[in-house]
Amino acid sequence: MLITFEGIDGCGKSSQAKLIADRLADQGIECVLVREPGGTDLSEQIRTILLDAKRSMPIAHAAELMLFAASRAQLVAEVIEPALKRNAVVICDRFTDSTIAYQGYGRGLPLAYIRSVNDLATNGLIPDITFLIDVPIELAIRRRKGMGDDRMESESRLFFSHVVQGYMALAQKHPDRIHVIDGADSMEDIHHTITRLVEYELGNELRHAHRMNNRARHAESTPALPATGDFDYSFDVTAEALAS
Ligand code: TYD
Repeated sequence: MLITFEGIDGCGKSSQAKLIADRLADQGIECVLVREPGGTDLSEQIRTILLDAKRSMPIAHAAELMLFAASRAQLVAEVIEPALKRNAVVICDRFTDSTIAYQGYGRGLPLAYIRSVNDLATNGLIPDITFLIDVPIELAIRRRKGMGDDRMESESRLFFSHVVQGYMALAQKHPDRIHVIDGADSMEDIHHTITRLVEYELGNELRHAHRMNNRARHAESTPALPATGDFDYSFDVTAEALAS
């Protein structure tokens, strides 16, 4: 199962991702927690290029998009896909929705390109659950105060209002996958809501696996049906009836 956390910088999603990862691990569930951009040697190097505020090197919007995508492609191939194959729960602090919100709505790059680049980077992988932690921009800025803004965080309020619009559009488009959580609530309340939803989804997944297992066992113990050729007469009867 792939669970992703989204929201503007300072919304509190990283703490929530860590809390649920710890909780699942305590229950003996293998849980892999990663952040984007980052999570592999290559991706961490790309992260430095993308976020280092002190570098004066200009980065064109299209180059920025492809650097985020390159970081993601490596993370998916090296960490996420192998973990999902082992049936681990993968928790990702930001994923494809960030690129739609920041590079699409924030930077204004065409969404169709971003979707294609995201698809290529993830091999078509879509999160099972996404938590979008929604906080007013002012609150997010206040929470980040004194933490030293990185290159993205130094963007204008207008930029972040476009990013928020992007996130809301995504939540409207994918209401089954994206759960919007009020980030102004207490850490405990948010964690409680997230835990309930994750445990419900994990329960569903287990029930589904159990049903598939039962079905496979049932198929093994049931005699094979007659070959389809034995039923060919039904077509002739229909043809005759039609002719008369
Ligand atoms: P990070 O320090 O991880 O911020 P946060 O803790 O808020 O997640 O920096 C990630 C920054 O990169 C953040 O400003 C959002 C931005 N970003 C994009 O613009 N596009 C992307 O595809 C991703 C994954 C992140």
